[in-house]
Amino acid sequence: MNLRGTASRLQVPNVKTVLVDAVGGNTERNSVTILSNEPQLRVGLAWVWTQLGDTHTIFGRKEPIMDIIALAYLGLQSSKLDDWSALATNLLGMQQVETSGDLRRFRMDDRMQRLIIDSSEGDDIGYFGFEAADIAALDRVTARIEAEGLAVTRGSRALADKREVAELIVFHDPAGHRIEIVIGPKIASDPFVPGRPISGFRTGALGMGHVVLQVENIELLMPFYRDVLGFGMSDYGLEPYGLYFFHINGRHHSFAMIGTGRRGFHHFMVELYSLDDVGQGYDLAQLESGRIAYTLGRHTNDWMTSFYVHTPSGFFIEYGWGGRTIDPATWVPHETNVGPSMWGHDRPFMTPDMQAKFRDMRLQCGRNGLRQPVQVMPGNYALSEGVCPWFDAQKRAAE
Ligand SMILES: [Fe+2]
Repeated sequence: MNLRGTASRLQVPNVKTVLVDAVGGNTERNSVTILSNEPQLRVGLAWVWTQLGDTHTIFGRKEPIMDIIALAYLGLQSSKLDDWSALATNLLGMQQVETSGDLRRFRMDDRMQRLIIDSSEGDDIGYFGFEAADIAALDRVTARIEAEGLAVTRGSRALADKREVAELIVFHDPAGHRIEIVIGPKIASDPFVPGRPISGFRTGALGMGHVVLQVENIELLMPFYRDVLGFGMSDYGLEPYGLYFFHINGRHHSFAMIGTGRRGFHHFMVELYSLDDVGQGYDLAQLESGRIAYTLGRHTNDWMTSFYVHTPSGFFIEYGWGGRTIDPATWVPHETNVGPSMWGHDRPFMTPDMQAKFRDMRLQCGRNGLRQPVQVMPGNYALSEGVCPWFDAQKRAAE
């Protein structure tokens, strides 16, 4: 590897023969121009296809702030309460705990609520609830947001009770999304009872799951989430539009933005303990005409095996298993352009051209031999004996 300029900030492991010129000084963002004719550059865990003269942008590592530690809940505005209830309980396996008036509230674990559907104010995004580490962290985040000239209000006692938390702040990000940051989320006194027989949702320190937004101006929002809220960047793509994934705990990403020029949810993801929870959900989803949005597949960045469904609100829910966890203290953000999925995730709602584009990227992953280890937790796996002479020989040869 031969790097010039601020090469030590680039953290480009496993590059053997590529000669790059690092420009940009001691910043978090570096422009890298390829000076050799090596066709591949490995950046972090991603293969970047490149050629002489190409320029890539690399975000160096920033110390994570970690005042915000998890996605706590999501609030959606939708007039289709009954449709949401059926989807959340019968397919996803959430527990409905309120059916009164304008509200539907759902549990996923020991928390009082994780998903709230509110029909009182028309159809819109609603709000995101993030959890701060403690009151000091909440105060630090408040100060940073106010320093940006944005108004922050302390939630009233009535609002805190409604959200089932001890305290919260409310503000709008530079694009107008309503964000709530809470401390002291309340634990229910009765156990979680899933809406269908599932082994449970993987939440805890990893939070509710992840949420992905479509945004109009990603260049405006990216620095706000990274520098003001303190989210750590996991990875990113720059073509055909900006795509940024952020972590706030060990989950590879709890929040992401896609700069499509539109505004709204792209999807939110919930993760299950068992692969069979996802497979049995997939069977149920296929009983409904038009429910499946993405077929079963596996993502290239968080290694999640998942499928996506259409929701009554016009966006998607990802239903997944086996997402990777990362170490925020050592993680280095990197560019990726291998496509979102190493296999599967066909999107039948797209035009044939777009479907073909995604399929070609997956097939390229296959040609490159891209595969990642299955991510399991203690208690939900059993080690098999090595019984494949060919595979064992391959492993020995690679060592
Ligand atoms: Fe996702």
